[in-house]
Amino acid sequence: IDGWRHVYSGKVRDLYVPAASTSLADATAVLVVASDRVSAFDFVLEPGIPQKGELLTTLSRWWFGQLDGFANHVLEGSSVAQSTPAGGAAPAVPARFAARSMVVKPLDMFPIECVVRGYLAGSGWAEYQKTQSVCGVALPAGLRDGDRLPSPIYTPAFKAELGDHDENITFERTVELVGGDVAAELRRLSLEVYARASGIAEARGIILADTKFEFGADRDTGEITLADEVLTSDSSRFWDAAAYGSGERTASFDKQIVRNWLAANWDKTGTPPALPAAIVEQT
Ligand code: C5P
Repeated sequence: IDGWRHVYSGKVRDLYVPAASTSLADATAVLVVASDRVSAFDFVLEPGIPQKGELLTTLSRWWFGQLDGFANHVLEGSSVAQSTPAGGAAPAVPARFAARSMVVKPLDMFPIECVVRGYLAGSGWAEYQKTQSVCGVALPAGLRDGDRLPSPIYTPAFKAELGDHDENITFERTVELVGGDVAAELRRLSLEVYARASGIAEARGIILADTKFEFGADRDTGEITLADEVLTSDSSRFWDAAAYGSGERTASFDKQIVRNWLAANWDKTGTPPALPAAIVEQT
């Protein structure tokens, strides 16, 4: 990308720094470009889903706008940013990337996926069936897949590399990883953002069943700052509240369609099969 240097690609997003910087460590701004790649069970699948990167960026931008009061990594205004608070100008973003990218502040990221669950699903449901708890948080007996929890719980995971599985961990393990003060703050912020966001979703007929946040420390002030994507259809389970209320638990406005198809059509050995056109369209 003109004016920007590619430094890293994750499963879905590609990171760039201003061409004058050499790495994320000395950059004053980062350009996060959301691709159309789809990942599930920590693999990148074929084919991509057209416009998915634009949708994820639109969702993140909208939610960051709703979450005032919580420090976040966004550097741009409503249009694409041209300068950073540090005073250094960030290169312009070429128009064809604008809708799928954001200019953000580089942070020192914590290696923790801060998951909050208001409902039992996915790895939360799997772990509950074995231990009646999730990440060491004890839950009542007799819950079923999709049930609402008595109150939202913080269930952190350790970030895995491509092809590995993220590992659910206890709060105590996060204390070992980042220290007690930061661990407690990550939990507090995650539960607060979830409470705010689930209220906003609920008012629109959508249940925020669970979601994942990532935080980093501001390099100048140390402030714990919301980073990454927020409350997107990749990082969250969004359910249709009306359908849920009438006992139908399959209406999901997120990546669950892909996960379900893959779980039914792949034994998790070797590379995953290509997604059929019907699943790509539905998603
Ligand atoms: O799969 P699991 O039940 O652990 O996921 C909980 C929530 O965290 C889901 O909303 C899922 O989309 C999100 N998540 C994520 N990235 C991961 C793991 C989970 O966004 N690597």
